[in-house]
Amino acid sequence: MRQPMVAGNWKMNGTRWEAENLVRSIKEAEPDPAAVEILVCPPFTAIDAVARVLKGSPIRYGAQNLFWEKSGAFTGEISGEMLRDLGCRYVILGHSERRQIFGESDQDVARKYAAAKRAGLNPVLCVGETEEERNQGITEQVVSRQLQAVLRETDPASFHGAVIAYEPVWAIGTGLTATPAQAQQVHAFLRTELQAFDEGAAANTRILYGGSVKAENATEIFCQPDIDGGLIGGASLKAEDFLRICNAAICG
Ligand code: PGA
Repeated sequence: MRQPMVAGNWKMNGTRWEAENLVRSIKEAEPDPAAVEILVCPPFTAIDAVARVLKGSPIRYGAQNLFWEKSGAFTGEISGEMLRDLGCRYVILGHSERRQIFGESDQDVARKYAAAKRAGLNPVLCVGETEEERNQGITEQVVSRQLQAVLRETDPASFHGAVIAYEPVWAIGTGLTATPAQAQQVHAFLRTELQAFDEGAAANTRILYGGSVKAENATEIFCQPDIDGGLIGGASLKAEDFLRICNAAICG
């Protein structure tokens, strides 16, 4: 039985003060940690402030990116070891904004995945197709290529604790969501790909859906058999909306 998870990707939003207020409101609602694992991923600059608020809380926090080297002359970069030092448990990797705006390749993401595991972090690996790729009918090829690049760099044990997020690029921040059936189809496909790699990984790895998830549409998406929760962007910036989405993940 996979525990549902709802993760908030705050992207490049918020001062430390705003981050503290947001995470305090989430914490004070005392969501049931046995029912849903909650993760917040603030910008790097607010991680420490969020960590202080979450001290002793079952709510997890993580980062939105890392660089694959441990330390050295890499101006502007942050390593997995630095994130562990802040108490992060998770790190989002391969988000489509990183792939598209910052030119991260499948190979870059795979290296980052391996570095996260080495540092003791659980990756939240994002995969997803663009609108053009969906229209061409190559959604499965695209997500398979993105996943296989990581599987080639890693061993089955490294999937322990890892999370995959299926995020169709055309659904991110657009107000368009995949229908529950469209999302379920890709999630089931990803699980089959994992199965060929490792039975245990297929059964235990949580696959989240992301892309314009809101309190209003979360329940029908999350109740699909291969959807284990969500990665939430815009709606994770309001505590009330985010908490309603967390509640929606407790289904079936
Ligand atoms: P959105 O973003 O919920 O605002 O569409 C999701 C994401 O980018 O992870």
